Amino acid sequence: ELYAVVPAGGSGTRLWPLSRAGHPKFLHPLTGTDASLLQATVERLAPLADPSRVLIVTGVAHAAAVARQLTELPAENILVEPSPRDSCAAIALAAAVIARRDPEAIMGSFAADHLIAENDRFINVIRQAMTGARQGLLMTLGITPTRPETGYGYVQCGGPVGDGPVLSVEEFKEKPLYDVAESYVKSGNYLWNAGMFVWRVDVFLSELARQQPQLHAGIARIAQAWDSPSREEVLGEVWQTLPRISVDYAVMEGAATVGRVGTVPGDFGWNDVGDFHTLGEVLTADSGGNVVVGSDVLNTPSVLLRETENLVVVPNSGRLVAALGVRDLIIVDTPDAVLVCPRNRAQEVKSLVDELKSKG
Ligand code: GDD
Ligand code: MG
Repeated sequence: ELYAVVPAGGSGTRLWPLSRAGHPKFLHPLTGTDASLLQATVERLAPLADPSRVLIVTGVAHAAAVARQLTELPAENILVEPSPRDSCAAIALAAAVIARRDPEAIMGSFAADHLIAENDRFINVIRQAMTGARQGLLMTLGITPTRPETGYGYVQCGGPVGDGPVLSVEEFKEKPLYDVAESYVKSGNYLWNAGMFVWRVDVFLSELARQQPQLHAGIARIAQAWDSPSREEVLGEVWQTLPRISVDYAVMEGAATVGRVGTVPGDFGWNDVGDFHTLGEVLTADSGGNVVVGSDVLNTPSVLLRETENLVVVPNSGRLVAALGVRDLIIVDTPDAVLVCPRNRAQEVKSLVDELKSKG
């Protein structure tokens, strides 16, 4: 029995202009099918958690869109936060709500915006992580790193716990500097944290109390009022006082230093779809290496490609997008903005957004 929590916040600025504050990436169908990343996330968990045990935590601005996309979920399973306080508050709220139903429940937290190619393997890894969780560990899923990515967390693997495949984790380091990340990758002893966690809610909440007493106390107050008429009032009052911190910094780093973190290495075609280039790498390309996001490249009326190579095309305006004789480009067409840039500069889209924001 698993409770599956999906914290769905953040706007994914490297996927601008497709992903916007008002329409973040988890609401988009980037999967090559019609399902949004969020819908795909919930569908993929179906073998482990039926809709009554799936909880989404999202901002007030997105709650209606989330409910429309996930009609199978009971309304009370969509937890609405008054403002974004980063992932720790969101995950802690879900843990506290679940603990009211079952204090020893096993809960997984699953990012709303990742792609996973091999679902059976993924489900299997989650089952293995659940065995570590039953033994009192805060479990991570470990991905073999392929580059010194500084936007991820890293776990240093220790020895097997019991008969395996659960490994103990000696260190959890969130978003290291480049040189540090490089040394981790070279050492061969570190895995990427996939950003998905499995634990017993009581174990997580006691680590939260130990490391983030203020956050824990605030969440406890909200949980206490959850089934009372004062829920909204208490939520509105307390939420804005909660520290803005991600669960990785708030709980995972410190839990690893006292030996309470484990990992299961998993190779299930994980991709966090951080930017258009990495998105292009996971979707099926045509014979020229071109990828059309959100539709089938061979059978889409809204894109016309001739003698192109290695393009990532996102037709999102209803207009026809045509390209001739170009290569290695990202082309994103949305109703009010068009982006064209080389594939190898996909990371820098974030700085465009920063510039736009600073201009108001
Ligand atoms: N409800 C809610 N509110 N959800 C949030 C908020 C918030 O304020 N902020 C973030 N989230 C959700 C995101 O939607 C996502 O599902 C999850 O929490 C993780 O947040 P990200 O902002 O995407 O984190 P990250 O990508 O920088 O880092 C995490 O993921 C990496 C892998 O992709 C970390 O766990 C890293 O260690 C990990 O390597
Ligand atoms: Mg992320």
